[in-house]
Amino acid sequence: MFEKLKQRWKVNGLNLVLIITTFAIGGSLCGYAGRKILALTNLEKGALWVILYILLITLLWPLCVLLVSFPFGQFGFFKKYLGRVFKRFGSSHDRGQTVATLNNTGHDGSNRLTRTRIAIFASGAGSNAQQIINHFSSSADITIALIVCNKPGAGILDIAANAGIPSLLIEKERFFTGDNYLPELQDHRINFIVLAGFLWKIPEALIKAYPKKIVNIHPALLPKYGGKGMFGRHVHEAVINNKETESGITIHYVDELYDHGAVIFQATCAINDSDTADTLAQKIHVLEHTHYPKVIAEIVEK
Ligand code: GAR
Repeated sequence: MFEKLKQRWKVNGLNLVLIITTFAIGGSLCGYAGRKILALTNLEKGALWVILYILLITLLWPLCVLLVSFPFGQFGFFKKYLGRVFKRFGSSHDRGQTVATLNNTGHDGSNRLTRTRIAIFASGAGSNAQQIINHFSSSADITIALIVCNKPGAGILDIAANAGIPSLLIEKERFFTGDNYLPELQDHRINFIVLAGFLWKIPEALIKAYPKKIVNIHPALLPKYGGKGMFGRHVHEAVINNKETESGITIHYVDELYDHGAVIFQATCAINDSDTADTLAQKIHVLEHTHYPKVIAEIVEK
């Protein structure tokens, strides 16, 4: 159980002890303060007293744990933790309103667009994911609800934690031969998937569950320089070695083949004689960061 908590909260053993201690002392302090406040009212212990007591400790609890977290050096953790609790509370309120009608297309029965809940699949540093998160951070219609990653320690996991977005670390066997993590995607009510530097092929069952609801970005002008093994730096090296005069990005729907589904958007950049795989990668990242969030918004709004 402690190991699970350490992984879930991404903390070491000492911090876990301090966090649990903060929970315990904060909880006791909150109960004590609640009783003291009620004592001031001279109210008899009974049903009303219990109701008021529950209300009071619900209100006091966040304050008490934040207060206690200071001397234990855990203020940062609890600030984020409470932020996530409030956010979840808010989104479960949303769920209460929409769950009856929401289906996998993100539309309700009247064909009106309901909130789109996106899962970003990423394996690396996550600079594209970061741009997408920023772009939709105050959107009323689109929520980045889950980060899915196949690499422990990848930068994208820190980005998710900092943004207070739940992350899911997936394993090869279950992704390709098990239930493809569909239950988790459904638990998070995901109705759109964005691949942003995700290097595993998407299994057929997932493509069937999300028809025309999975998009990918590729760092070259498909159909050239796509397919198995063509990712990140390998793509830029191949482009430079072939002395191409331009490269670019391709945003496309995902089908059963690598880098193959229908193209949605392309943008180009020129390649100079002095360009290397690294400088080309920088140009491509600029194009990706500029266009990917906007193209996602357009597809979802359609
Ligand atoms: C991006 O350039 C993306 O196009 C590429 O991985 C990089 C991820 O960067 N994807 C592929 O090569 C897929 N075939 P990021 O982690 O900084 O967003």
